[in-house]
Amino acid sequence: MHNKIQKTGISAVKKAGKLALQEYKKFHRSQINLKSGHEIVTKVDLASEKIIINEIKKNFKDHEILSEESGFNYKKSDYLWIIDPIDGTTNFTIHNPLWAISVGVAYKDKIIFGFIYAPFLGELFIAEKGKGAYLNNHKIKISKTAKKKEIHTFCHGSDKKSLLKALKYYKKQKLSRLDCRQLGSASMELAYVASGRVESIMIPGAHSWDVAAGVLIVREAGGKVTDFKGKPWNLKSKDIVASNGSTHKKILEVINS
Ligand code: IPD
Ligand code: CA
Repeated sequence: MHNKIQKTGISAVKKAGKLALQEYKKFHRSQINLKSGHEIVTKVDLASEKIIINEIKKNFKDHEILSEESGFNYKKSDYLWIIDPIDGTTNFTIHNPLWAISVGVAYKDKIIFGFIYAPFLGELFIAEKGKGAYLNNHKIKISKTAKKKEIHTFCHGSDKKSLLKALKYYKKQKLSRLDCRQLGSASMELAYVASGRVESIMIPGAHSWDVAAGVLIVREAGGKVTDFKGKPWNLKSKDIVASNGSTHKKILEVINS
């Protein structure tokens, strides 16, 4: 079963990524649609979602699916596929290559697989529970960077409370640390923590589809993932901090101060 899940996950993100990359090259911002005040969707999000769902249905017709644009499929199963067909849609629409297709798989509410594919960068991050995290087949590890050289990142949900919390955090970190950045794709920021490119990501008001795959990839790379109270992140958590572990306590202090 696990082998088949892995094959299906990789094939789904790669097929969707191929289509999305073709569309990215010719995309114009006039094609965006607004979902709500601050959220956008494109025909590429929808096309990518269709490819991923078809691939899952072809191999696991009884599994439950939750996808950003179409919601739940309402199957009763211990297996849940959690899909963000394009994470970082705003980056996609402004031709910033930091966007990805993110697919996580949970078994009885615990994430057991994570797949994040950034087509423009040619980077595929994967993890299986208990088996480590990989970038293009090379094992990845969180960073051991000295405190003074730490770089932190953040994202935020679209509601006002989450935005204000993120802005407060950004101001504090920006004024007191080397740097703090919003990269614009939660899944890629998690992948960056996992591969030691940055030290942390914090997100008030995260959706499970933004982070499900990345949470496992960070954990399998040796990192720590909690909510803002320091409790291990789970599928019901609203907020998330993922880090290399050594900086985690300090980040929670900054968030909660
Ligand atoms: C968004 C991105 C963004 C984060 C938002 C997410 P989307 O996902 O990950 O970085 O700040 O919270 O919703 O809408 O591009 O899939
Ligand atoms: Ca999305």
